[in-house]
Amino acid sequence: MRTVTEMANAKLNLFLDIRGKRQDGYHEIRTVMHTVSLADRVSVSVAPAAVPSVAVEVRGEGNAAVPADGTNTAAIAARLFLSRCRLTDAVTVSMEKHIPVAAGLAGGSSDAAAVLRALNRLYRAPLSEPELLTLAAAVGSDVPYCLHGKTALCEGRGERLTRLCVPAVYRFVIAVAGESMSTPRAYTLLDALYGQFSTPRPAAREGYTRLLSALGKGAPLSFSLYNIFEPAVLPLCPGAEELRYRLRALGATAALMSGSGPSVFGVFPSADAAEAAAVTLRGEGVRAYAASSV
Ligand code: C5P
Repeated sequence: MRTVTEMANAKLNLFLDIRGKRQDGYHEIRTVMHTVSLADRVSVSVAPAAVPSVAVEVRGEGNAAVPADGTNTAAIAARLFLSRCRLTDAVTVSMEKHIPVAAGLAGGSSDAAAVLRALNRLYRAPLSEPELLTLAAAVGSDVPYCLHGKTALCEGRGERLTRLCVPAVYRFVIAVAGESMSTPRAYTLLDALYGQFSTPRPAAREGYTRLLSALGKGAPLSFSLYNIFEPAVLPLCPGAEELRYRLRALGATAALMSGSGPSVFGVFPSADAAEAAAVTLRGEGVRAYAASSV
């Protein structure tokens, strides 16, 4: 049996706008994703076998919310990899979960991407970079981004990537209020609120320009964060909305919901300030993590 371990990092959406609904039911998005230090640990083992199989084990905080069966995104990724490479081995994926589940932090997508990276390492790179990206897009819209993480502009379904160079390390606190929101439900709420997405959204246009300029210079991120999901999702997640205000009160220069929510994050001026805010929130019974850009 051979084993490799990969870290599966969470992402934050520093900017997220939807430009319209597509014929295939997906939405045309424009988002800036940013990888942070909060991460799951994913170990993948392979052993020779006569027929292909995939088993998943899940440990760590919130593990009960993660399916340890074939519906897990990590298992889907492993099955696709075996089939694409015509392999019949037995794969075991062992995950130590730290990223909150169904929270808009791409935990499931990042685990799937980590499995694809691990398998490509274990079998000595049978798939090229474009082939891996294609396989990743078949697992989920955020999985291609999660293969390499860092900071990227993601468009289309989320799979069309433009890498952005960011010469700064930002400090964050990520917090969840115990609410959850599935991605399909969040999109349904969004459709009900925005219809054809034709209403002008000046905050989105200005936020995007300011964000790209700030990231390019490594400048502070205040006044540039934007997420179109907030007015659709936060009214149903009052705990998240309250946490967003709480983060500001604890010294965040800006706070936003990540992805389709309901996790929220605050940007802090230093690692010490972020750590102090996370400690305070944990003291109040909130699941909160200090994290930084990686
Ligand atoms: O691609 P993924 O499986 O992560 O998407 C989950 C769900 O989110 C889709 O079934 C769809 O309802 C919604 N989605 C969307 N537009 C996107 C990405 C996701 O409507 N660009």
